[in-house]
Amino acid sequence: MAFKYGGKVDFPITVTLGRGLEGAITNESSIGYVDGQEGKLVYRGYDVADLAEHSSFEETAYLLIFGKLPQKDELDEFDRQLKENRDIDPKIIDILKKLPTTAHPMSKLEVAVSSLGCFDPITINNVEIGTQAGIKLISKLASVTAMLARIRKNQDIIAPRKDLRHAENFMYMISGEIPDELTTKVMDMALILHADHGMNASTFTSMVVASTLSDMYSAICAGICSLKGPLHGGANEFSLENLIKLTSETEARKWVQDCIKNKVKIMGFGHRIYKVYDPRARIFKRYAKEICEQAGKSDLYKIAEVVEDEVVKAYGSKGIFPNVDFYSGLIYNSLGIDTSLFTPIFAVSRVAGWVARILEYLPNSRIFRPRAVYTGPTDLKYTPMEER
Ligand SMILES: CC(C)(COP(=O)(O)OP(=O)(O)OC[C@H]1O[C@@H](n2cnc3c(N)ncnc32)[C@H](O)[C@@H]1OP(=O)(O)O)[C@@H](O)C(=O)NCCC(=O)NCCS
Repeated sequence: MAFKYGGKVDFPITVTLGRGLEGAITNESSIGYVDGQEGKLVYRGYDVADLAEHSSFEETAYLLIFGKLPQKDELDEFDRQLKENRDIDPKIIDILKKLPTTAHPMSKLEVAVSSLGCFDPITINNVEIGTQAGIKLISKLASVTAMLARIRKNQDIIAPRKDLRHAENFMYMISGEIPDELTTKVMDMALILHADHGMNASTFTSMVVASTLSDMYSAICAGICSLKGPLHGGANEFSLENLIKLTSETEARKWVQDCIKNKVKIMGFGHRIYKVYDPRARIFKRYAKEICEQAGKSDLYKIAEVVEDEVVKAYGSKGIFPNVDFYSGLIYNSLGIDTSLFTPIFAVSRVAGWVARILEYLPNSRIFRPRAVYTGPTDLKYTPMEER
């Protein structure tokens, strides 16, 4: 069946299912819409390209959670709560410092969110309590991620500043320097573009956990665990690692051809829903050129364009184009951000979508409980060990 923007569905409905729950409908939502045929992404009715250009992450998070663009006083209050919650309990910082330096920051982020939950007496989830916890998590995930970046490099932690905007403070806490206007704009835009994306794996994971009426911290921690995988958020790291190994146009073309010949999936390409160019990738690509040039990495940008060209030549007819993870990695790399931080940054943004969708589902929550098609026997008799 075809869906229209804002279309209502009468449950139960008939759908065609594919592996990986393809085609399955989990719920109704007015938070965001991914139009895979037109290549359009909408948050609460607004085109994400418009939001990326004109909004801020704070305003977009408000929009996702509360369903409308805020008035000035509403945004001021939301912003105040985000700023107020930036501090991290020193006991949590100690826990993070004790984890092995070699552990991936996403694993440490899982620990951080579980720890934040342990230090916050909120254990049940309802809309009011969940909203409070959600705002705290949106704020604290940025602080914790920046702290993890410093801990990984054996650098002193930088305390958050309450006078800076969310993206600005995040970059400040990573580098110790107040970022320039372009850096702040690009990070803000990256946070807006990653904030929500339909019923993707991590959003679904966090909603499944919340549907058991588990608390917001557990649900967000589960979302982080799911986002970590290379087929989901982790793709941005692998994509960049592939690109920086390529030293010339010829090598880039050959690498893609080898991947095609050996049927190796190329990270940063393809999408379950988009069968045309990912609209987020289009926006990132525009900024990637400028940011790479500014960082003296125009060659890396050119390599990326060549890889895109080869992949699209081979797979464009199958609906495989760059996704959000392809050009975002170039941008982060040019901003001087370590590759291991790319997926955590995704989480710093996507937490807004997770929180919004959990809160939307909560008032009429029903525990998620799909079924598997059982293919095993049903009539075996138990045999004692000595008779097997
Ligand atoms: C995103 C992704 C998981 C979607 O998966 P999916 O909807 O289950 O699609 P499939 O993995 O079943 O792929 C369908 C076909 O396209 C091919 N394909 C999909 N993505 C591909 C890629 N990045 N490179 C090469 N081939 C790809 C598959 O090999 C498969 O081909 P086949 O029909 O000949 O077997 C998949 O495109 C992928 O693994 N991309 C790389 C990881 C990535 O960038 N993830 C970030 C997503 S935002």
